[in-house]
Amino acid sequence: MLMLRENLMKKTVNDLAVFGGLPTFGGQLYVGRPNIGDRGRLLERFNQILDSRWLTNDGPFLREFEQRIAGLVGVKHCIAMCNGTVALEIAIRALGMKGEVIVPSFTFIATAHALQWQGITPVFCDIDPRTQTLDPGKVEQTITPRTTGIIGVHVWGHTCDIEALAEIAARHGLKLLFDAAHAFACSYKGRMIGSFGDAEVFSFHATKFFNTLEGGAVVTNDDELAEKLRLMRNFGFTGYDKVSYIGTNGKMNEISAAMGLTSLESLDEFIAVNRRNYFRYREELRDVAGAQVLAYDETETCNYQYIVLELEETFTQVVSRDELWRILTAENVIARRYFYPGCHRMEPYRSNLPGLRLPETESLAERVLCLPTGTAVTESDIKIICQLLKLIIGNAVEVRGLLNGLGASFASGR
Ligand SMILES: Cc1ncc(COP(=O)(O)O)c(C=O)c1O
Repeated sequence: MLMLRENLMKKTVNDLAVFGGLPTFGGQLYVGRPNIGDRGRLLERFNQILDSRWLTNDGPFLREFEQRIAGLVGVKHCIAMCNGTVALEIAIRALGMKGEVIVPSFTFIATAHALQWQGITPVFCDIDPRTQTLDPGKVEQTITPRTTGIIGVHVWGHTCDIEALAEIAARHGLKLLFDAAHAFACSYKGRMIGSFGDAEVFSFHATKFFNTLEGGAVVTNDDELAEKLRLMRNFGFTGYDKVSYIGTNGKMNEISAAMGLTSLESLDEFIAVNRRNYFRYREELRDVAGAQVLAYDETETCNYQYIVLELEETFTQVVSRDELWRILTAENVIARRYFYPGCHRMEPYRSNLPGLRLPETESLAERVLCLPTGTAVTESDIKIICQLLKLIIGNAVEVRGLLNGLGASFASGR
């Protein structure tokens, strides 16, 4: 269905919807509106599944999907799962992590919960503001006799300092797992993400640029680990009536695998659109003082799935990120405050760890805003979004004055 959009280009800050103007867009623009591949191919596959009545349990589409992902990433094993969170939980368990595991707080809550869920303490470590991923120096300082592993998160598809983390993990005898939920189809020093550490975990959730509706996978080159992961994914069954292991139900069903195979056929197109959108945003916002679009490393393969606007303190001291977020929402630009306020400031961690301060994480979580992209966002949408941003950021003091006039109702978000 075509979304109706009214292009009401704003000339002054008084025209902004929060101050009484009409919203710029007639329909809402989202950060993670699902990308959908060829509908005909998808329905063909769905029909095959229904005809065969093989809906789940190691079906033909699942096997093909796993082979395709392993081939694309360049690993021996892909074990597809029902979602990224369960994939993380099973990987953590299969690796034998226990006690304490070092993780960033600047990540989606699932990274921490996957540990806490099974009685392992996530020990939050600050990030390097340049990479926005775990700071290896701080990781080293966080290791205790109870530490059994490190989970690095390739935030936005920006890879961790993998070599440094691998060196620390090896020296201290720790397991190394990567949460690569954002980094499918990205590379590190020319090698695809998926084959680093003991294992890596992808999420193929509907909001990711490549999706299987719900879904995820653990990828690894370790044969023994792969076998364990397969058993754990399927209740520990080793035969029809034989259980040899403690397991759960982490299986990916055939419909999701079919969606994944269909999405794979459009992978290059999805990335090309993300890339086009990214360069459009970069170009439009190039000369804006007070904010910048996070750059991707052009020497690496990248999925460009997040457009991350990093606001500088010169701007946020006048208009906060949350105020900008609400101004944009009123225009039907549904930006996202990713990883706000940081895992360590969410429950149960906030109560468990009173007084824990992670300055880089906290600063970034207050200044980052993800902007709409993906195949549902056009170049002309981006031009208009950027014009709005330039109007707001370029007239921050005036916006501040008008916001003050709105009083408590705006401040409380009502
Ligand atoms: C960094 C990160 N880790 C883990 C997950 C969990 O994946 P899922 O939603 O597939 O369970 C997500 C995304 O949703 C994520 O962004």
